[in-house]
Amino acid sequence: MKKLPETINLTLKVWRQKGPKDKGRFETIPAKAISVHMSFLEMLDTVNEQLTLEGRDTIGFDNDCREGICGMCGAVINGRAHGPEKATTICQLHMRKFSDGDTIVIEPFRARAFKVVKDLAVDRSSFDKIIQAGGYISVNTGGAPDGNAIPIPQEIAEKAMDAAACIGCGACVASCPSASAMLFVSAKVSQLALLPQGRPEAAKRAIGMVRTMDECEFGNCSNHRECENACPKEISIVNIARLNREFVKASFFSAEK
Ligand code: SF4
Ligand code: FES
Repeated sequence: MKKLPETINLTLKVWRQKGPKDKGRFETIPAKAISVHMSFLEMLDTVNEQLTLEGRDTIGFDNDCREGICGMCGAVINGRAHGPEKATTICQLHMRKFSDGDTIVIEPFRARAFKVVKDLAVDRSSFDKIIQAGGYISVNTGGAPDGNAIPIPQEIAEKAMDAAACIGCGACVASCPSASAMLFVSAKVSQLALLPQGRPEAAKRAIGMVRTMDECEFGNCSNHRECENACPKEISIVNIARLNREFVKASFFSAEK
């Protein structure tokens, strides 16, 4: 069996942009002797160390947990949000997925609602606004209720948990031709709408979150399904159908406006 190399040399074409008003441009940066055991973010760390030694501006990128759970990291790699590996965030993408001599094009998540902060780092506070508009349940204070007081069928609990796997990374928006946030919003609506605890505020939630999504200038769903394909947590577009049902129900049959 052919032994894979331990290190590879790459050419990065990285999007450099000083801020939201800067036009931005691609910069070619060599990435030499990159261990194939590194994650994509560790590769960027290594390149940044080299840029620092050379007295050059480092590449700005978002990250936090580096375990695929916080949703902070994200970039478009060779035209794909989060890169070539399915169901994988870039903090969990390993350099062994690339070959010696490759050129890698790295861009920020592009959408009108995601302004570039610097280079690959984008402002995703519009997602926070959508969550603030309804991504919660209200509970009365008092003693903690018995966990088994409301029986929930396993099938329903699993669907709710699948929707709750959304980490709010924004890859769905970046991969959608209309920059729609429907997959994200549908996951956040579904995880609560499916459970009895989420029903009392379901109408208010659906209307509030959809309205805020529109205010934040996300586009409309165009049924391309690129969002589902790019999602590192494999959130299904079945949730979008549920969001549409929740929204229509709330618009016609509730007092919420
Ligand atoms: S639906 Fe998927 S791609 Fe979109 S924000 Fe959630 S985890 Fe990220
Ligand atoms: S850094 Fe947390 S999901 Fe990638």
